[in-house]
Amino acid sequence: MKIDLTINGEPNTVEVGSEEDLATVLRREGYTGVKCGCDGGVCGASKVLVDGGAEMACGMAAEEADGREIVTIEGLGSQDDLHPIQQAFVDHFAVQCGFCIPGMILQAKSLLADNPDPSEAEVREAIDDNICRCTGYQKPVEAILDAAGRMRGERAAVTDGGTSANSPRGGESHE
Ligand code: FES
Ligand code: FES
Repeated sequence: MKIDLTINGEPNTVEVGSEEDLATVLRREGYTGVKCGCDGGVCGASKVLVDGGAEMACGMAAEEADGREIVTIEGLGSQDDLHPIQQAFVDHFAVQCGFCIPGMILQAKSLLADNPDPSEAEVREAIDDNICRCTGYQKPVEAILDAAGRMRGERAAVTDGGTSANSPRGGESHE
């Protein structure tokens, strides 16, 4: 069957199989920022925004996306003009292997759209189904809290890759 969906602001008509999930279709269409870690709706790597809410694309039938607005990580910033959440992840050294990061950043975007000034506990709750095997979560949490401030128009807590005086790296090990 054919479905019509908007991907990163562009209208698309896509042929999908009745058994296909949205992650498979998006990757086939070239949106390889959609990661498949578990293919079982567990790890969060395949999260995309569907009408603004974060959804695990591997767990959503492609045909359910008919008529919906999809945003993948490719739709946020560009290499030369990162989204503030992406920039905060860079500045806080919140990315290691990077596999979980598209899903985590899109989850953060959804959170901050609903709650521009979340507490640390609310950030941790929002990303609790985004599994990361590398970072220990501390730096992503710091990055999301800093991104929230930047998006509210406040000064960045850390810039230039964490080299400012109040860098969260100060004396701590790189978990
Ligand atoms: S691949 Fe979709 S949640 Fe893990
Ligand atoms: S940065 Fe490697 S899984 Fe999260």
